[in-house]
Amino acid sequence: MITMPDVKPEAKPAAGLRNVVAGESGISSIDGQRGVLAYRGIDIHELAEQSSFEEVVFLLHRGTLPTRQQLQETQASLARDRPLPAGGVAILRGLPARCHPMTALRTAVSALGAFDPDGEDHGEAARGRKAFRLTAQMATAVAAIERLRHGLQPVDPDPSLPHAADFLRMLTGGPPSPSAARAMDVALVLHADHEFNASTFAARVAASTLADVHGAVTAALATLKGPLHGGANEAVMQMLEAVGDPGRAEAWVREAFAQKRKIMGFGHAVYRTEDPRATHLRRLSQRIGEEKGERRWYDLSERVEAVVRAEKGLYVNVDFYSASLYRALGIPTDLFTPVFAVSRVAGWTAHVLEQLGNNRLIRPESEYTGPRDVAYVPLERR
Ligand code: COA
Repeated sequence: MITMPDVKPEAKPAAGLRNVVAGESGISSIDGQRGVLAYRGIDIHELAEQSSFEEVVFLLHRGTLPTRQQLQETQASLARDRPLPAGGVAILRGLPARCHPMTALRTAVSALGAFDPDGEDHGEAARGRKAFRLTAQMATAVAAIERLRHGLQPVDPDPSLPHAADFLRMLTGGPPSPSAARAMDVALVLHADHEFNASTFAARVAASTLADVHGAVTAALATLKGPLHGGANEAVMQMLEAVGDPGRAEAWVREAFAQKRKIMGFGHAVYRTEDPRATHLRRLSQRIGEEKGERRWYDLSERVEAVVRAEKGLYVNVDFYSASLYRALGIPTDLFTPVFAVSRVAGWTAHVLEQLGNNRLIRPESEYTGPRDVAYVPLERR
């Protein structure tokens, strides 16, 4: 006899674990109702206006803003750790040019674990160094992926440059303008951490098994690729290209809603008002678009935003204006999600270190909804 489990509707777990507090963390906090994000208690607006990626890496990993000397040391360490091992570059060279850059990046980070000078040392000091080194190397790996797939030589890091400026230089082969470098720096600050988002949670789950730092970040990268998470910025650009012209925005959005399609770059699992990161990305998208003499993608984005707000009351999230900003910075569309990773690796690794600092295996339970007491039927009687 087959019996069905007795599932009480009120006992059902929240779909997608919404509103479930899955653990404690002192790294970043979100107030979804008021649209507040803070790293270690410091409001993201202050960090976006006054801080740098180097400062934020220190803040996330170590818990406080760095002193002047600590900041200099962080800048020097990031610069020293940016180069990739030759073996890692050789693995990237072996990938087909058509390989999605996120697939290449996921492969690269897993491989970097094999070449890491700290090897299989998983002690506290070694994992701190690995977390930091990986944060530095992510920018170089993304730039190398872009160059190699176009048959170009990777550009070596320049240790005299800040992280964001050097990333753009390694990516494009030339020095960025000061405003482009600052826009990239702010984008890196804004994307660096976001509480228990899907990729960070994936990293923490992997870390909690005592898997290594590179493995945890590989799990995070695999999770970030999805269009419901980090992949949304790429999907936003594809949408803007499909809309093509501000005059077509209204009809395009109405049609998408009529077909019950999701509009990428809108809505959020936690924010019920504007994502505070979007406020800065909107401004930067406009500024860099104007400087480059191509406001087209900003204007189109603004129009789509107005229509979606009017039709459904949905707010933009971090991915919406990062798309037109990255386009204005000359970054290819399928590199948008890897650029997200160049920043978010700081948060992932901070969370991995925090998880391992007070670890307990993350192992929730599921509500079983299948049949029970099912008799085994031998093959010849099926
Ligand atoms: N386009 C159209 N409708 C959307 C929407 C979007 N981008 N985001 C949310 N909605 C609608 C949902 O369809 C749902 O409508 P319903 O109640 O009629 O079914 C309602 O708003 C609630 O949204 P829901 O999907 O339950 O929110 P969620 O918390 O599960 O999902 C996201 C959050 C981010 C997955 C969702 O907003 C989304 O898919 N956005 C597009 C992808 C994206 O930009 N991701 C990046 C996130 S930073």
